[in-house]
Amino acid sequence: MSTADSAMTGTEVAASAHPLRALSAQDLRAHTAHALERARKRSGTLTDAVDDADLVTQHSKLMSPLVWDLAHIGSQEELWLVRDVGGRQPLRPDIDDLYDAFQHARADRPALPLLGPGEARAYVREVRAKAFDVLSQAPLEGGALTDTAFAFGMIAQHEQQHDETMLATHQLRKGDPVLHAPSPPPRRVGAVPAEIVVPGGSFLMGTSVEPWALDNERPAHPVFVDAFAIDTFPVTNGQFAAFADAGGYQQPRWWSEQGWAYRTEHDITAPRFWRREQDAWWRTRFGRYERVPEAEPVVHVSFHEARAYAAWARKRLPTEAEWEKAARYDPHTGRSLRYPWGDGEPTAEHANLGQRHLRPAEVGAYPRGVSPLGVHQLIGDVWEWTSSDFAGYPGFTAFPYREYSEVFFGPGHKVLRGGSFGTDAVAIRGTFRNWDYPVRRQIFAGFRCARDLTPAERG
Ligand SMILES: [Fe+2]
Repeated sequence: MSTADSAMTGTEVAASAHPLRALSAQDLRAHTAHALERARKRSGTLTDAVDDADLVTQHSKLMSPLVWDLAHIGSQEELWLVRDVGGRQPLRPDIDDLYDAFQHARADRPALPLLGPGEARAYVREVRAKAFDVLSQAPLEGGALTDTAFAFGMIAQHEQQHDETMLATHQLRKGDPVLHAPSPPPRRVGAVPAEIVVPGGSFLMGTSVEPWALDNERPAHPVFVDAFAIDTFPVTNGQFAAFADAGGYQQPRWWSEQGWAYRTEHDITAPRFWRREQDAWWRTRFGRYERVPEAEPVVHVSFHEARAYAAWARKRLPTEAEWEKAARYDPHTGRSLRYPWGDGEPTAEHANLGQRHLRPAEVGAYPRGVSPLGVHQLIGDVWEWTSSDFAGYPGFTAFPYREYSEVFFGPGHKVLRGGSFGTDAVAIRGTFRNWDYPVRRQIFAGFRCARDLTPAERG
């Protein structure tokens, strides 16, 4: 690629310079084992926090009993690592069907003859021992599943994604708090502009070199994005409360037709878990009842609520390409970074990830996580709704199976970006794409706004 071409279309980190690809085979095995162990420790925290009766209870029709998630984690690990990569004999072929997410809707799972808590724990332990044995012997190059330990990385991400789902189940369960974590850092950023102008032009979206990226993040491709403005921070509880207090939930003009029908049918008047007490908003958070903190990003809002707020604020939601350009594009080099802060893995100084805290941090809490353009907290805290439908990139190839993402492409699912306080670092990147129904509110989703530039701003 010539210099002129690279300036026009952008580049991403050189494959040889990628931190994972630079590791020796021994260090890659250790790194991978650590990612798997971290996921398992968290699964343990989430399932050991409640008793056996609670583990088999369905706390909401939207969620599986926690014991289903646990055994499903083991079942997927057995399929991909023990059987496919390892070529080993099945441990429990008789339960494959029970833990196939496509066979049974969440609402139907409690009625299945599931493994009990003790059996599920023993099963995931047995699978893990075999998976580690496979990891110690598999060549981590060559085949698409084994190259740079892809399948192991995919399974670590899968477990962490279910851990985030289990965390959402914890938020839905009634009763006293059982999860504990320190408070996130306070605001540490001084005065900054409320919006950042992102210059027009092409940037490289998606990735062709990220070893553990999933099929829907690939391949890297140039995308032209017109100049626009994006909020420096996610929309806060205080800002969202102003919308609710101004009658935003009662005025159809701010809502799409579909959104208004949904709001009306379910009589939604505030973010999920919020309650009005005299002149203040309160919320329930993992069993705690507390005043809604004004400076934190709003969470537990649907796409429809996010869109209505944006219309009320005379703005709009960013497209997925706009979000990614604001997060990754470095105007000094034209390169798309792995994360807003650069190519290095997330640390506690960069972003609120990994259930380190049980809440989003105040806006301005992560000065070291800022993007080259000056946009804050794109990674961590809350998933951010975008206006885009979930679709394959040009040149998309389903891998390793269609059901990972291709079957979800279409107008029924909206893309969310950036991860939440409940997302582990292994399962988030500048290119990572999440998707969900526009009505979903139990997920840890918020948003930020964007807008077109005025003619005067365009110059
Ligand atoms: Fe799954």
